[in-house]
Amino acid sequence: MTRKIKNSFYVISILLILNLFVGPVLAEKADKRVGLDEKVRLFFASQRGKWVDWNVPEVDGKVLYDLIIKNNFKRAVEIGTSTGHSAIWIAWALSKTGGKLITIEIDKGRYQTALENFKKAGLSDYIDARLADAHQLVQELKGPFDFVFSDADKDWYKNYFTALAPKLEIGGCFTAHNVASNWGGIKEFLDYVQSHPNFDTTIDRSSSSGISISYKIAEE
Ligand SMILES: C[S@@+](CC[C@H](N)C(=O)[O-])C[C@H]1O[C@@H](n2cnc3c(N)ncnc32)[C@H](O)[C@@H]1O
Repeated sequence: MTRKIKNSFYVISILLILNLFVGPVLAEKADKRVGLDEKVRLFFASQRGKWVDWNVPEVDGKVLYDLIIKNNFKRAVEIGTSTGHSAIWIAWALSKTGGKLITIEIDKGRYQTALENFKKAGLSDYIDARLADAHQLVQELKGPFDFVFSDADKDWYKNYFTALAPKLEIGGCFTAHNVASNWGGIKEFLDYVQSHPNFDTTIDRSSSSGISISYKIAEE
């Protein structure tokens, strides 16, 4: 009986000590999370109607966000940052999964505006922004990745896909914007991915732009 009381006393003491030290740490983490969400929402509100650099519509940003959360993706690449609208949606989702985004832009002015936007949104820590020609950089990037968003030069989409597909994990996905358009390169890209035996492709039509979503189901 005395031993039982002693054991209970130890257990309660350990729980109290844990609560004393771990509780505040968890609370601080939760506070930071709420703080970040609020910062991103405020930034988006301040930017409404101001995304004029070929940025994705909000509804498409949400599609990317949901995909990352649903699949718990962590290692993402974006081709075509522009001023950062889609990157902010992607990085916001990655801030919740514990991941990070590499995003590539060739135009210095848009790259610099994107950096400022990432800072304002509070998401710089989740984004590795590169000022580079993606034609070359995608060849050099070391994988593995589990999420790719292609939104730069459409006539290079198939090349981006062939360069990054081997670096994608099984279960990961390659997404591409504007696939509902008939711009040069889109048909060639879609024909290629839709008939690829190792990828399962669907098209999200939340906006009129269309996003192809190709899940890797088998290795090359
Ligand atoms: C449609 S915009 C991207 C919009 C962006 N995803 C967003 O939602 O905010 C395409 C961007 O790709 C960039 N781009 C075009 N060719 C590129 C290349 N070879 N390497 C890197 N970026 C490129 C353009 O400069 C442009 O800013």
